[in-house]
Amino acid sequence: MNILVTGGAGYIGSHTCVALLEAGHSVIVADNLCNSKADTLDKVKRITNKEITFYEIDVTDEAAVDRVFSNHHLDGVIHFAGLKAVGESVEKPIAYYYNNIVSTLVVVKICQEYNVKRFVFSSSATVYGDNTVPFVETMNLLPTTNPYGETKAIGERILTDIAKANPAFSISLLRYFNPVGAHESGLIGEAPNGIPNNLMPYISQVAKGKLKKLRVFGNDYSTVDGTGVRDFIHVVDLAEGHVAALDNITEGVHIYNLGTGQGTSVIELVKAFEEANGIEVPYEIVDRRPGDIASCYADASKAKRELGWTAKHDVKSMCRDSWRFEKNYKE
Ligand code: NAD
Ligand code: WQD
Repeated sequence: MNILVTGGAGYIGSHTCVALLEAGHSVIVADNLCNSKADTLDKVKRITNKEITFYEIDVTDEAAVDRVFSNHHLDGVIHFAGLKAVGESVEKPIAYYYNNIVSTLVVVKICQEYNVKRFVFSSSATVYGDNTVPFVETMNLLPTTNPYGETKAIGERILTDIAKANPAFSISLLRYFNPVGAHESGLIGEAPNGIPNNLMPYISQVAKGKLKKLRVFGNDYSTVDGTGVRDFIHVVDLAEGHVAALDNITEGVHIYNLGTGQGTSVIELVKAFEEANGIEVPYEIVDRRPGDIASCYADASKAKRELGWTAKHDVKSMCRDSWRFEKNYKE
């Protein structure tokens, strides 16, 4: 298939380009590089020994997106493009609502105009809010604590309404849990700008000596050791989940959790990183971070049942691959 990957130069997008190319699909990337670099796509080409067509465009720009659709016969779209920093979204709600909602509307509108029926959307486990774990796709969603999370919940609603009105559309809403790790080549991975907000890049930068110590946000949650519990998923498994979603997509709207189904606490992740890489990660316990929930992990059985997809990598291999990328990475 010819697949348009919006946000394909980003962290999850670049790994998905690798998975798509390795599965024999052709890939067209549209990215404005607001949170990524064009040389990531060169690295994807090196890993796969395949070509990618790249458009440096903003996908909120309808005319620019139209040009891409008129230049290629597309079979499907994976829409990753979006802003994703939770804290920044609280400070800049207009930028987040505008970018994340308008991009989705523009891309799906042009899909309809060109009769491109397969659409895969990057959603997030954040839409479950503080539900009871494990999170199941049939649960009622609870409010999220920030504009970023709301853009994902709204994006899901928009696409659900569009699928209802256009029965020919096949839409998958993929709810990612906590993506970590990197391609085993060490060439592509997560390289956040500035001080990382997320746990794994923070741990990796402490290990590298770039940051002094990890601050563990709270150890008084009702979890195995009091620290927050999350469902960390290797980004390569996540990427393969997208290929499985595209291959198995059927008419209507379908929601899938992409997680491992296993919860790991913050301290358990730190210990796993230390053991996997033989390196110490100093940390201190500080106050809870506002907006955090105690536990978040998936019931991942629907994706297994319907897509034949399960995550294969364990937490140690996530830690090894994150560290290999961080060690090699030069700004
Ligand atoms: P990322 O920032 O690495 O990738 C997003 C890409 O989209 C970047 O390359 C950026 O330049 C591009 N982009 C943003 N706005 C654009 C626009 N208007 N036009 C064109 N390109 C644009 O983020 P990621 O971690 O790879 O996340 C990909 C998607 O998955 C996002 O929608 C994100 O919200 C979602 N998601 C991420 C996580 C996570 O923890 N990483 C979890 C759940 C969901
Ligand atoms: C994980 C755990 C923290 C940093 C976020 C978004 C979510 C999704 C994934 C996009 C928590 C603790 C963290 C640190 C810490 N993204 N922590 N010290 O909050 O589960 O999810 O990324 O959709 O929407 O909210 O991920 O990696 O920030 O935190 O103790 O320096 O690590 O308190 O328990 P989170 P995270």
